Amino acid sequence: MPPDQPARTRSARVSARSAVEPFHVMEVLKAAAARQRSHGDVIMLCAGQPSTPAPAVARAAAIEALDTDVLGYTESTGILPLRRAVAAYHQQMSGVEVSPEDVVVFPGSSGAFTALFLAAFDPGDRVAMTRPGYPAYRNSLAALGCEVVELDCGPGTRFQPTVAMLESLPEPPAGLIVASPANPTGTVIDPTELASLALWCEEHGTLLISDEIYHGLSYGRQTASAWETSRESVVVGSVSKYFSMTGWRVGWLLAPASLRRPLEIITGNLNICPPAVGQHAAIAALGESARCELDTHRERYATTRQVLLRRLPEIGLRDYAPPDGAFYAWCDIGHLTEDSVRWCRDLLDDCGVALTPGVDFDTVEGHRKVRLSFAGSTAEVEEALDRMAASPLLRPTT
Ligand SMILES: Cc1ncc(COP(=O)(O)O)c(C=O)c1O
Repeated sequence: MPPDQPARTRSARVSARSAVEPFHVMEVLKAAAARQRSHGDVIMLCAGQPSTPAPAVARAAAIEALDTDVLGYTESTGILPLRRAVAAYHQQMSGVEVSPEDVVVFPGSSGAFTALFLAAFDPGDRVAMTRPGYPAYRNSLAALGCEVVELDCGPGTRFQPTVAMLESLPEPPAGLIVASPANPTGTVIDPTELASLALWCEEHGTLLISDEIYHGLSYGRQTASAWETSRESVVVGSVSKYFSMTGWRVGWLLAPASLRRPLEIITGNLNICPPAVGQHAAIAALGESARCELDTHRERYATTRQVLLRRLPEIGLRDYAPPDGAFYAWCDIGHLTEDSVRWCRDLLDDCGVALTPGVDFDTVEGHRKVRLSFAGSTAEVEEALDRMAASPLLRPTT
């Protein structure tokens, strides 16, 4: 280095806002990958990842698009045929009239949440969500300078929020996020309570954000859409879960009129557009011809869920949230440990089963909870339960 050049000792600057919690499940995935390399025996029950690919018609549509289309930038809000397909799908599922203009498409619902938080909230705004709840809501809101208000939700309300909880806050929050079926609990909100929340939010100027990305995956309980009650709410959708297309990165919002232009401007700047090939595949996935294949997946989840309901108590996990939908079991392990992160690491070391420690989802009780995902095959889940049954970690210490 020439002598007149200053020494470069300072590392690149990092914002204070980026100091949010990591998604701890990523640490589990890293440890599981290491175990897989050394032992080759890992069963992953830690990710909300279907073991199936996109439906055949969606894969064929992607191949067709690759062969015939430039697949360049698209409209920032998504191509019209996809917005039409999303509108038709919602209309068919919930009986609500939805037009393509109501739909804004994003790179996954994760991309939709970031754009929505930017379009709807200012730094300092208070946004309510359930505890336990999906950690990316909390961490993204915090990174954007919003104040997260955690609503303590337990078995008494199926781990879902109520109007009474909102009434007990010192003032109405700027936003409320409801997820049904929920992650990590899998519970479904009662349709009447969702309608009451939607009306309360409209009356109090609170933006209701209804995360409905697990719709299509419920096992007996009725799932309602927030748009059945209030078109001033935002409905969140995605091809990731029921449609078995996590990596294709296509999600969307049904947005009230006042938010559409702000969302378009923000997503145009942040993302330019959603992935082109994913959009073409998603059109096919949303159509009738994919339904039969997708419903077969749901039947498999339902079978695995029955296995879990029978076997969880047998291995000593008696206290869990009612898994009404999605593909998660939220289990209490307080009789086994006060440190769920360590317990999950030890379980992985002991028998190669990877679960997610509860600390990702619950900032208060998470040290005594784990989330088990049954998105994989039934045989895999059965094998994991066999291994857990044999593990000393499942035997209470006192
Ligand atoms: C409740 C919930 N919302 C949103 C997401 C994000 O999904 P995606 O970005 O794949 O649409 C997830 C992912 O697991 C989730 O569980």
